[in-house]
Amino acid sequence: MITIGIESTAHTFGVAVLEDMKILSNEKDSYTTESGGMIPTKTAEHHVDVCDKVLLNALKKANIKLSQADLIAFSQGPGIGHCLRIGAVFARSLSLKLKKPLIGVNHCIAHLEIGRLEGAEDPILLYASGANTQIIAYDGGKYRIFGETLDIGVGNFLDSFGRDIGFGFPAGPAIDQLAKKSKKYLQLPYSVKGMDVSFGGMHTYIRNKLIGKHPKEDICYSVQETAFAMLLEVAERAMAHCEKKELVLGGGVACNSRLKEMAKIMCKDRDAKCIIPENQYLVDNAAMIGLTGYLMHKAGNKTAIKDSEIRPYERTDQVDVNWR
Ligand code: FE2
Repeated sequence: MITIGIESTAHTFGVAVLEDMKILSNEKDSYTTESGGMIPTKTAEHHVDVCDKVLLNALKKANIKLSQADLIAFSQGPGIGHCLRIGAVFARSLSLKLKKPLIGVNHCIAHLEIGRLEGAEDPILLYASGANTQIIAYDGGKYRIFGETLDIGVGNFLDSFGRDIGFGFPAGPAIDQLAKKSKKYLQLPYSVKGMDVSFGGMHTYIRNKLIGKHPKEDICYSVQETAFAMLLEVAERAMAHCEKKELVLGGGVACNSRLKEMAKIMCKDRDAKCIIPENQYLVDNAAMIGLTGYLMHKAGNKTAIKDSEIRPYERTDQVDVNWR
């Protein structure tokens, strides 16, 4: 069965082609800036400009003709409305043109499901991206959120801090590189509240007390050590509470070399499996949408055109999970 997956929740427009659970291609074009952040309308314009090209590249790489597609899977939510709408229109058009079923996929759940390709069976997902920071696991028919950010996503925090010290979007890779040049830890507010985290206070503190007074590399190093320790503390507590022995990383921030290293140390300490998909499947990607769509379809789900509205605020635990 050939599935075409489409991703467009935020900065990335992606198209993937899968044959059952095998990924034949995973193409994307992401909106970036030299300075400043991501503007929703500009990002949506980017998606309109690149969508045809990305689809053609994905089909070519997979050596599949559009007419061979059996299923169209797309990111239905959550995400930025402007961006989701482009992917949804694109997916509906393909579904209608090809007369093939459509399946709407929850983007956060897709980050967890892609871990299956690396052997994950029943993991805790640490989903660390720009907009989303959640600890997710399956329990009682749904993917439950065991902990999450109370204010901004860890990636948005890193991007905002990165802008403060002159980096463009995304700032994460530059922070990762600069942090490697320091081992000097500057004390920062550490905000874990029960199973939740928050980054706003740390950001204000950095702006008011550190920027301009300390070398940038020391601040980058300290930001990573603190923010990632917070994430792994709640991830570990969720693993202990749910008695799960697998951790899957997901989201663009999970590409960070120090976060990966810290996750591996934590899992080793508690004799758990640390599953880190390759970077192309950590960042927003269409392969995870195609894979989740395929699993959902196999369990008998489909999304009628009338039900294919975008869901910018859909929560992970609003989705009934009948495909496990
Ligand atoms: Fe994501």
